[in-house]
Amino acid sequence: MANLCIIGTGYVGLVTGACFAKLENNVICVDCDEKKIALLNQGKLPFYEEGLEEVIFEAKANQKIVFSTDLKKAVESSDIVFICVGTPQRPDGSADTSFVLEVADKIGQFQNGPLSVVIKSTAPIEAIEQVKQTISVNSNHPFEIVSNPEFLAQGTAVRDFLKPDRVVIGSKTKEGAESIKNLYTGFDCPIIITDIASAILTKYASNSFLATKISFINEVANLCEKVGANINDVAKGMGLDRRIGPLFLKAGIGFGGSCFPKDSKAMVDMANGAGSDFKILNSVIEVNERQKKVIIDKLKKHLGDLANKKVAFLGVAFKPGTEDTREAPSVIIANKLIEEGCQISAYDPLVKDISLLNGCKVDLASVPYKAIENADAVVVITEYKDFCDLDFSHIKSIMKQPLIIDGRNILDSAQLSKLGFTYEGIGL
Ligand code: UGA
Repeated sequence: MANLCIIGTGYVGLVTGACFAKLENNVICVDCDEKKIALLNQGKLPFYEEGLEEVIFEAKANQKIVFSTDLKKAVESSDIVFICVGTPQRPDGSADTSFVLEVADKIGQFQNGPLSVVIKSTAPIEAIEQVKQTISVNSNHPFEIVSNPEFLAQGTAVRDFLKPDRVVIGSKTKEGAESIKNLYTGFDCPIIITDIASAILTKYASNSFLATKISFINEVANLCEKVGANINDVAKGMGLDRRIGPLFLKAGIGFGGSCFPKDSKAMVDMANGAGSDFKILNSVIEVNERQKKVIIDKLKKHLGDLANKKVAFLGVAFKPGTEDTREAPSVIIANKLIEEGCQISAYDPLVKDISLLNGCKVDLASVPYKAIENADAVVVITEYKDFCDLDFSHIKSIMKQPLIIDGRNILDSAQLSKLGFTYEGIGL
């Protein structure tokens, strides 16, 4: 069992730390945000993630995890340090690695013996050399840099960590890779050992390929509407081909979140920097941006001028099971509708705090019916299955006009039409 220091207590760091602690390692999770650490020490999580609270509770009870702001002490008492800090998008689309380098600088100052430094943050290839140089400025001790990209999806992150499809480890030396591979002893999945650049590209290419699947199916959905086909049947027929597979073929209002939009742009930037023109990925990004406009067009088709209309959103987060609204289609669509003079109300089972919406002026309701009252249209934004169980007869009675735009194709169109709703999905 290893002594691990996990730097950064965001989704990636906290899930990684908690799960490694569950696997009996001694884990110190460090963050410079004192409020976050105080919260964690009180047994509270800074965000919702299914199953994470239980894993942390158990690890704490077994004295396998502690939370601290003291990076010096954490680095000094660890054999392996995981860098799990954010790499936000710069205005030009490239990944901002300044947090990673700040951490590297501190690691160099505090290192007091041999160390493995593992980059879990999604950072471009050149960041590795920068991390190496930054640590070397202050440290005379030997250290090994390893890339071990994360493939955790929000909402299923704990399961994704403990039962992954694969683990990827990139290292310059066999020994460097082996020390990290040992942490995954007993995992029932392929462990790919490769060089650092290949490990990093595996991560970027995986996210970009999944984003490509989504933009592709959204383009097919838009074509379906023009030629009278049904995207649900088309996607089903495609997905049954084992070479294609059924996942990530759900048409909708486009992908959001802290990963796909950022990583696809960073991969384009990486390609540009290497003199390679990544045409497909540029189109994937463009299609995704355009897809959000589909909702506005559909609303205009039915409501005409949108000024003074009330539109109710079902769902706000970029996907179910999280309160995360980063790059969420909801915020982008709401801002455009507000520009047109619309009033937006919304209900989301997890998004309860208006500050999560980055200044976007949406009225958050505590129950769906409150958001829908007097609305001219309901728009399904997030693919929560529970929305299918709402009382649509009641909904019809409280709306100004019975119009539903289903941005995720989850509702029963036949039932809604029977109830007298005008229903529009995506690609139906
Ligand atoms: C994504 C990847 O799925 C993870 O493997 C990866 O580790 C993570 O990014 C990361 O880099 O940290 P995440 O952003 O949590 O995970 O969410 P996804 O479940 O991949 O969904 C992303 C977006 O695509 C959501 O807005 C979702 O609504 C949309 N989506 C997904 C579709 O529009 N259609 C689909 O068929 C699937």
